[in-house]
Amino acid sequence: CKDVGILAMDMYFPPTCVQQEALEVHDGASKGKYTIGLGQDCMAFCSEVEDVISMSLTVVKSLLEKYHIDPKLIGRLEVGSETVIDKSKSIKTWLMQIFEESGNTDIEGVDSSNACYGGTAALLNCVNWVESRCWDGRYGLVVCTDSAVYAEGPARPTGGAAAIAMLIGPNAPISFESKYRASHMAHVYDFYKPDLASEYPVVDGKLSQTCYLMALDSCYRQYCAKYEKLVGEQFSISDADYCVFHSPYNKLVQKSFARLYFNDFMRNCSSVDNDAKEKLQPFANLTSEESYQSRDLEKGSQQLAKHLYDIKVQPSTLLPKQIGNMYTASLYAALASVIYNKHASLNGQRIVMFSYGSGLTSTMFSFKLNEGQHPFSLTNIASVLDVAAKLESRHVTSPEKFIDTLKLMEHRYGAKDFETSKDISLLPPGTFYLTKVDSMYRRFYEKK
Ligand code: ACO
Repeated sequence: CKDVGILAMDMYFPPTCVQQEALEVHDGASKGKYTIGLGQDCMAFCSEVEDVISMSLTVVKSLLEKYHIDPKLIGRLEVGSETVIDKSKSIKTWLMQIFEESGNTDIEGVDSSNACYGGTAALLNCVNWVESRCWDGRYGLVVCTDSAVYAEGPARPTGGAAAIAMLIGPNAPISFESKYRASHMAHVYDFYKPDLASEYPVVDGKLSQTCYLMALDSCYRQYCAKYEKLVGEQFSISDADYCVFHSPYNKLVQKSFARLYFNDFMRNCSSVDNDAKEKLQPFANLTSEESYQSRDLEKGSQQLAKHLYDIKVQPSTLLPKQIGNMYTASLYAALASVIYNKHASLNGQRIVMFSYGSGLTSTMFSFKLNEGQHPFSLTNIASVLDVAAKLESRHVTSPEKFIDTLKLMEHRYGAKDFETSKDISLLPPGTFYLTKVDSMYRRFYEKK
């Protein structure tokens, strides 16, 4: 079948957030450290009545309703998440409640997990299924759901939370260019979760940045090589209308795009003008290790790429800057931002995507866009996403309240035999929420 890809999208994020500016003051950080230094505006977080299961129940139910999809028409359901609530029972099985109601239990797929990459693994699985001989003509459904929380310290402002659902099938307005997929996978300890009693990761922040950029370089080189072999022309960032990156925090996205620009310079591409070539010349002979450490190269290339960043990257940064790192959902929230901001002018355009999960796994791939047909049209996806209204209706809480919630959740993580406050006053109608965990660790949810 033709043009397999994303037919429909929906997104849910908690209605509570904390402002990075207020967090700077609260943490005693220098002014601008989180807003300019990390490039973040706000951070969403789950209150004690929400978690990755409730968010994914909410977003799946909402997608099926808003696009009028009969639950019987789903043949594969894949979840990407790195937020472990149960080491055996997949989040997918909780979502089956929605499908069991309509008598559909014939749905393949379970959860994929490797840091922020699980959503991409889930997406590729669904796309491969639709393109395979096992496909039975029904839709695939991908859910990315995470709550990113860090221990007190420099990583804490890079948290976030959200769930995204994507319907997969042929003749999609956001279709995969399957031939140009490139991955880079390796063994490193940059960010991992070895302490099973804690929700917080162990993270080597600096190493994770370098690993991210090295993986980006490797994927881009191979993506370009595959493109050039098939098309017979050089690929450069001029061939991408938008570049969408996994976004732990916005500064890393700025650095990433500058890195692609530097790659184009090293490959002598026409995307880099003569003036920029001259300015980058002093860095041409750095070893790759030196190039990751050079502050002058980092700052210089960011400045030189700025005019292209504003056009090709900035439209993808809306949700990640407002919500924070959503782990598996982060890359797809960035994609949703482009669709929301630019849906009227995307016909025929290409979006290059970069997915990174610590540990590490990474893939670069691309989409071709077309307006599509209602309800699976870019216009309708943008209207369902309804980003501005959802952001505006959020409730801003104080850093103190945010810290209190994290403290409470430290006790709740892995606990049994408790009831939540059931305070759902801030949740929009239709939102699922946690009511209790019984003495057998069984979790109970209700819908507002
Ligand atoms: N005004 C403006 N900028 C400032 C200010 C200020 N007052 N103070 C600091 N900065 C800048 C710094 O110059 C730096 O920017 P630069 O890198 O462009 O030079 C930036 O703010 C960050 O400051 P640092 O001191 O370098 O780093 P910090 O100790 O705050 O830690 C880090 C940042 C490493 C990102 C931390 O938040 C972290 O560990 N996060 C989690 C790991 C992560 O997200 N890794 C990314 C890939 S893996 C993943 O997705 C989970």
